[in-house]
Amino acid sequence: MTLDTGSGTRSSRFLMACRKEPVDRPPVWMMRQAGRYLPEYRELRTRTGDFLTMCTTPEVAAEVTLQPIRRYELDAAIVFSDILTPLVPAGIELDFNPGPHIANPIREPTDLDRLHFPDPWRGTEFLDETLARVRAALDPATALIGFCGAPWTLATYLVEGATSKSFSRTKAFALHHPKTFDDFVDRIAQAMAGYLRDQVAHGAQAVQIFDSWVGALGAADARRWALRPARRLLEAVADLGVPRIYFANGGSHLLHDMRDMPCEVIGLDWRADLHMATRALPDHALQGNLDPGVLMGPDDAIRHRTMAMLAAAPRRGYIANLGHGVTPDVPVSAVAAFVQTVQRYRYEES
Ligand code: CP3
Repeated sequence: MTLDTGSGTRSSRFLMACRKEPVDRPPVWMMRQAGRYLPEYRELRTRTGDFLTMCTTPEVAAEVTLQPIRRYELDAAIVFSDILTPLVPAGIELDFNPGPHIANPIREPTDLDRLHFPDPWRGTEFLDETLARVRAALDPATALIGFCGAPWTLATYLVEGATSKSFSRTKAFALHHPKTFDDFVDRIAQAMAGYLRDQVAHGAQAVQIFDSWVGALGAADARRWALRPARRLLEAVADLGVPRIYFANGGSHLLHDMRDMPCEVIGLDWRADLHMATRALPDHALQGNLDPGVLMGPDDAIRHRTMAMLAAAPRRGYIANLGHGVTPDVPVSAVAAFVQTVQRYRYEES
């Protein structure tokens, strides 16, 4: 897991790939790598009770963060939390059943008066302790990733109150009150920048911004409602000097728009063509993008598809991952087949 960078220092393959430095093989981690597909997660979940308690109990959250690392020796750990937990300090009443549910959604512009993001950031001290515990337990070569939701994606949860299919309430809000909606997503961007700064201060070495629902928008609306505020968020954490990953789920129609995204890495979902993305985004490192559904297939199909993905990926600046999160129904052996295929791969000496 460690590489000699020439200066004798142990360095992270993941962080090097984010910076487009040469590595022996692609680093590998998975979105939603900690979760219900792991028996050790389900066991701890039964003992702890609800999901939010797991997130807010540092001892438990740290243990869950480390579970997939122990099992698969991944190149990066992502701190165990949710994109919605930082909404609680802003006055949002949140629970999971198992999908998220917000009891006091933002339906009208006047509802925005009761959304109070702390400035400077506070209210997620449990995460600070989780990050510190995880960092202390991790091999120095394993990177620790912090994360947040992108402004558009968080706005959809705040307005809809749950995961949506049509996002019609959010679109109605944006169309009826365009200026207010611009300010709304900008407020989220500013708040999440503070939240990410806090995570980096407590040990996160890279940050990922999840724009899970950007794919619900046409290109013009995505530019205004999603990419514009995501840029503001990314710019607001540029000075931290840690790699920034922007994961644009369903964002294949936006590849050219993301060319000047102020981040080091673009995360691709499984619908994106890796050759096309490599051409469209020559300056970024790329992350992704095996269809998580492939993990439902036999091991030889998983290995074959993973090798095809590696062959299509750029040689420099590439991080192997799934194109979205691991689903709860995936066998642990299927995940092993994916991860080991990447771990056995070697770049040819050039
Ligand atoms: O990646 C990791 O291992 C870190 C933990 C993590 C979770 N959620 C844990 C979780 C991360 C990075 C997230 C991000 C997240 N949460 C996103 C962005 C990524 C994506 O999937 O697009 C979104 C949209 C959410 C919102 C959310 N949280 C939903 C829709 C759900 C319910 C659906 C589901 O997968 O269960 C959650 C709950 C949630 N978040 C669970 C976990 C492990 C399941 C909780 C449980 O029942 O134990």
